Amino acid sequence: MNTSTHTPSAGGASALPCIAVLATGGTIAGSAPDAANTSGYQAGVVGVAQLLDAVPALSSVARIQAEQVASIDSKDMALSLWTTLAERVDTLLADDAIDGIVITHGTDTLEETAYFLQLTVKHTKPVVLTAAMRPSSALSADGPLNLLNAVTVAASRAAHGQGVLVAFNNRIHCARDIAKTSTYAVDAFQSAEIGALGWVQDGRVEFQRRALRAHTVATPFKAGAAWPMVEVVASYAGTSRVAVDALVAAGVQGIVVAGTGNGSIHASLQQALTEAVAKGVAVVRSSRVGSGHVMRNGAAADDALGFVSADTLNPYKARVLLLLALAAGQSGAAALQHTFDTY
Ligand code: SIN
Repeated sequence: MNTSTHTPSAGGASALPCIAVLATGGTIAGSAPDAANTSGYQAGVVGVAQLLDAVPALSSVARIQAEQVASIDSKDMALSLWTTLAERVDTLLADDAIDGIVITHGTDTLEETAYFLQLTVKHTKPVVLTAAMRPSSALSADGPLNLLNAVTVAASRAAHGQGVLVAFNNRIHCARDIAKTSTYAVDAFQSAEIGALGWVQDGRVEFQRRALRAHTVATPFKAGAAWPMVEVVASYAGTSRVAVDALVAAGVQGIVVAGTGNGSIHASLQQALTEAVAKGVAVVRSSRVGSGHVMRNGAAADDALGFVSADTLNPYKARVLLLLALAAGQSGAAALQHTFDTY
């Protein structure tokens, strides 16, 4: 991990908050051979020092301590890197000299990392993720303003105790609620139905609501080295039971179903999942729809089948919570349902 400190030259700099910027790669650190190219680029190739140098206005917002934690395309995010990140965030925030953290990340799995940190970081100081849809080399690259806004949020008193946040395209989102909803648009993230927590613009940070689900210091979860096997399967026209049978044979401990509609599941898949529950596999019903909640005992008889409903978590976020719950030793549909109703 490379560490450097960028001290602004402006007078009164020592009064500014100190924000640690942890870079992990992504399109925000991407580069393409020509400026008009916004899809055929390499993610994660521009270093954190260069990202910061592109935003001179940072010097009037914060003192920056920069670290290159990884340089990856976030499609390749690994659970081991989640653990490294969570431990580094906790170590930095335990230091009185650090006032907040910004993590630069790829957009593709940002929602999963953000929710993982929301459940594992044990501090109330701000942790803010940001990203970009256009590489740093692009015309109208969105990364520099997103980075400035993320540092502005992390440096703000108002962000304390709000859990892990995502600052993207001027909006401030709760890590639990946000999901990527566009493959190309600059306004690529939504907190569907629920909406953003607030906004950031021109140095002003406004929160309009708070996250109500327990997070950070109010969770029992820890990043660790040993992870249970938890996978996602989908339900669609003509689904077979092959994937579930193969997962059970491979020793899977948890399965999240990206169900249709209100978490409904094709009959052949449901039969395989019911048999998996009988073998001790935890099964969580989520929905592939992209907004709304999955009603317990709605589209499937959860009580009778031993399933858990994911509430408003999309399948990939439900997998994060199930991973952490199983790693914490939780078992049984009732205990897991309580967890899904709480976090
Ligand atoms: C990535 O997720 O690392 C690549 C895509 C992006 O950041 O938009």
